[in-house]
Amino acid sequence: MSKKTAVQQQLIDAFRSAKRVFVFTGAGASKESGLPTFREVDGEWRQYDPMTFATLDGFLSDPVRVWNMYRMRQRQIAQAQPNPGHITLARMDQYYPDFLLATQNVDDLHERAGTKRMVKIHGDAWQMRCLRAGDVFDVRDFDLPDEFTVDTLPRCRKCGALCRPNIVWFGEYVPQDAMEAAIRGSSICDLMLIVGTSGEVSGGYGFAEYALANGATIVEVNPSEGALTRYADFWIPEPAGIALPRIWKLATGEDLLSTSHT
Ligand code: APR
Repeated sequence: MSKKTAVQQQLIDAFRSAKRVFVFTGAGASKESGLPTFREVDGEWRQYDPMTFATLDGFLSDPVRVWNMYRMRQRQIAQAQPNPGHITLARMDQYYPDFLLATQNVDDLHERAGTKRMVKIHGDAWQMRCLRAGDVFDVRDFDLPDEFTVDTLPRCRKCGALCRPNIVWFGEYVPQDAMEAAIRGSSICDLMLIVGTSGEVSGGYGFAEYALANGATIVEVNPSEGALTRYADFWIPEPAGIALPRIWKLATGEDLLSTSHT
């Protein structure tokens, strides 16, 4: 058996023997659905200055401009479809006895692919939060304009204060309940998948260290190396929408790409 085949067999065996799976995803997981990443050459932060569009000070200095960027992202997300990577991860949620997916993504493609056991650690593009009392609302429950003006900015139903996107911006805390769930999931898993994240922000969350401390096998799916690649037992340098259904078919025989698969 060649070394390459041996390595592939070890990878397949890891998927077959896993009982407790923790998945950690970033913007790359949604790239093949047409949504931009942040730090790649065509990424969001090349077009939009994160100091304006991803900090509270930036928002308060120009809420109309920031809200209209998020309205544009909501339209992009609504037009996007889950890709085979999202679909494979949703299948894994059904298949494994213990499963948790923690995503940095604020789109709803994991949910729309059917993933149930998941937490969003950087917030949700479809939600807004009252700046005064912190109440959270789904923007789709409001009749909001596609383009805000200073007179039509979204306000809290209860107290009338300005609402902000319910997104975790730089310098802000990750939601505690989501973080605690992700730390527990990574600490007990026997297989951890890292899909589509540079690890630039999340390196500090420690999920890969917790998984390693539990003796988990760590698999990274990302065309490029990143800050977390050094933790990976297996690094698959392919797009998630290609690699995940391919590995799943090798490990289980299930062909999630065939329309006949139910
Ligand atoms: N499949 C898998 N990975 C991909 C794909 C793909 N098809 N296309 C690109 N990638 C990888 C890139 O190689 C890169 O490593 O996705 C990663 C995207 O990295 P970032 O743009 O840094 O996005 P992310 O890691 O999710 O950023 C984390 O930073 O700005 C904050 O809050 C924001 O949640 C975001 C966080």
